[in-house]
Amino acid sequence: MKVALGADHAGYILKEAIKAWFNKKNIEYKDVGTFKLDSCDYPEYSYKVGTAVASGEAEMGVLVCGTGIGMCITANKIKGVRAAQAYDPQMAQMSRLHNDANVLCLGGRILEESAAIEIVEIWLNTSFEGGRHQNRINLIGQLTGK
Ligand code: RB5
Repeated sequence: MKVALGADHAGYILKEAIKAWFNKKNIEYKDVGTFKLDSCDYPEYSYKVGTAVASGEAEMGVLVCGTGIGMCITANKIKGVRAAQAYDPQMAQMSRLHNDANVLCLGGRILEESAAIEIVEIWLNTSFEGGRHQNRINLIGQLTGK
């Protein structure tokens, strides 16, 4: 599976739009929920997506909550996860080029659907530059144990 996808209630509508776009583009994904608009807790879905990526079950993860903040905080607690928030295409691109981000966190209450889809597309289609940036990724692990 290529992408693990998750959201809380505040990200649910945008998650569904991203899912429809994945279907249109034939991008393989696993939706870990939530599956309804009822209030729920973002750490549960962030943990599911983060562990799917860290274990190798998914190559990448996409998370949506109201702002993307809670999802990002939670996912970055998981060893092997490099979660990044992106509010525009440049942030999405740089998070791949320099940070090798493997989880993208979006704000369902911040982004218009079309802007979010553009961010996801750029993020999925940008490769890590490696080189000196790999050394810095290695240093994150050495210094933090994660
Ligand atoms: C839910 O109201 C909201 O707090 C959550 O979706 C997220 O934005 C937290 O970071």
